[in-house]
Amino acid sequence: MMLYTYEELKDFVDHCTRCALSETRNKAVMGRGSLRSPVIFIAEGPGRSEDQDGIPFTGRSGRVFDRLLSGIGMKREDIYITNIVKCRPPNNRDPHPQEQETCMPYLKYETLLLRPKIIVCLGRIAAQRIIRPDYRITREHGAFIFRKNTWLTSVYHPSAILRDETKFPEAQADFFAIKEKLKELAASENDCAHTRYNPT
Ligand code: URA
Repeated sequence: MMLYTYEELKDFVDHCTRCALSETRNKAVMGRGSLRSPVIFIAEGPGRSEDQDGIPFTGRSGRVFDRLLSGIGMKREDIYITNIVKCRPPNNRDPHPQEQETCMPYLKYETLLLRPKIIVCLGRIAAQRIIRPDYRITREHGAFIFRKNTWLTSVYHPSAILRDETKFPEAQADFFAIKEKLKELAASENDCAHTRYNPT
């Protein structure tokens, strides 16, 4: 298997013409954030602002996402955020299954390079693609599933919160649970580090 650097991957994404979304996009939107982050947030696809900027979550839903992050004392630089499809679907429609399928190798490669401990799906589309096709976000958000050495969970998509602010406290509670999970995983890693070598 050929191994690419993150910069090479970004270059592939920036110049990708693998599906029709590339014909209508302004800019492809590669994920962004810390490449050492133990947590990756994955949403469905760029919107209008992101298509203009080439950066995920720069629009109104990005501001909701930042509020949720700052609620747990974190910033964009502490995490990594990306999308299933890297180009804006026209008129912000849901990305078609075939478009998602075509774009998935990029997301898989991002995950391979970052090796996150936790993957957080933002919204139904990402959760149904990554966790289970029949995933029910209203019922299952905030629950953790362990698969292939990674914890998977979901929270409401920030744009769903924009449409209905009463979802914000639930989403904030899910972010707190993510923070707790990160602490727990960091603590068990420290424990392992201490038990790895015992000179007595
Ligand atoms: N909505 C998404 O799903 N992704 C973005 O990057 C921005 C808005």
